[in-house]
Amino acid sequence: PPPGVVSGLFTEDWRVHGSIYSSPEIFRLEQERIFRRCWLYVGHESELPEPGDYKTTFAGTQPVIVTRGSDDGVIRVLLNRCRHRGASVCHDEAGTANFFRCPYHGWTYYNSGGLRGVPYDDAYTRLDRDRLGLTALPRTETYAGFIFTIFAEEGPSLVEYLGNAAPYLDLAAQAGPEGIQLSANSHKIGYDGNWKLQLENTQDGYHFAFVHRSYLAVLSDRAGTPPPVVPNLMANWRTADLGGGHSLGEDTTAAEVTARGLIGGLPFNVVVFPSLAIIGAQVRHVLPKAVDRTEVRLYPMMLKGADNAVNAAILRNHEEFNGPAGAGTTDDMEIAFFRTADGKAATEKDWVVMSRGLDTEKPGENGIVYGHALDELPHRAFYRQWRRLMEEEES
Ligand code: FES
Ligand code: FE
Repeated sequence: PPPGVVSGLFTEDWRVHGSIYSSPEIFRLEQERIFRRCWLYVGHESELPEPGDYKTTFAGTQPVIVTRGSDDGVIRVLLNRCRHRGASVCHDEAGTANFFRCPYHGWTYYNSGGLRGVPYDDAYTRLDRDRLGLTALPRTETYAGFIFTIFAEEGPSLVEYLGNAAPYLDLAAQAGPEGIQLSANSHKIGYDGNWKLQLENTQDGYHFAFVHRSYLAVLSDRAGTPPPVVPNLMANWRTADLGGGHSLGEDTTAAEVTARGLIGGLPFNVVVFPSLAIIGAQVRHVLPKAVDRTEVRLYPMMLKGADNAVNAAILRNHEEFNGPAGAGTTDDMEIAFFRTADGKAATEKDWVVMSRGLDTEKPGENGIVYGHALDELPHRAFYRQWRRLMEEEES
């Protein structure tokens, strides 16, 4: 749609039209105007510590291989598409390899991308091998160990893009005595709903006491205390619009929390626009698949140099909340994603409300705006940037 159509999806009192979750045309535009223009999280350095290590993931809907070159140790992001006839070259999630061989007709590539070999190539009379390496994305940078890539050749550097979110990546990187490690790989969930719902839910303090009531009941049962009520639950928390679509939920008594140890996770949740969240002791990577299909990869954050008991507790917490038999994410899937986002619920006439705390936001330093723990301030932060990018003309 032309620019005006996207702005017609938002009212001044922050009602948002349901087609943002259900329109295939909007999904297509998002890939072009958001995922082709923003820095995208693709992994953490600890996932590929040695030359030759790689992982596969997605940049938007594009399959990619994140590799560390065996000759130069440089991290590159390569499109996982054979230059012969487009098959996926690498089907493994992670590993170590000096070469990738396409399973279709056996073309091989160096792990830095160049074309190495073409079987039975005597019949190819006009093959320009130098131009047939795997396509590398033009820019890949890391910040505090977090690897991001971008399809755009020009534009802000990663650190400029991260802006006010950068210090929170630094804090996450310092969570363990010797840093963090995503070596436990990921727990994956898939749901029939739009990708943005997972980002909304990640920064939604409002739902916690309702959707996660049974989880909270188990915790209070163990502790022998009465179940908490909503206003008390996050009394020390606040939300923040960090600018650039990035948002934050943080414990204002963070120093005390940190002193108690990080078993329960970092004392903040940060969303880095458009598809990364760090929440508690978890890195959450959101992969859009289709307008009504999303995959989420949840990586428990292991603390390097910490006692095994600490890391074991992080893993148990992770399983208990996010695992298939867990009590948290399973409820989010059922309530927050399926029902609002089955595509059929969001028809032409449906509007959602994102105005909680609209008139009580408090400006702070560096353009950061703060709100109450249960406010929909992070949602507005996300959609302000979303709207800006969706309305921007092609450059
Ligand atoms: Fe990869 Fe033919 S598509 S070798
Ligand atoms: Fe939840």
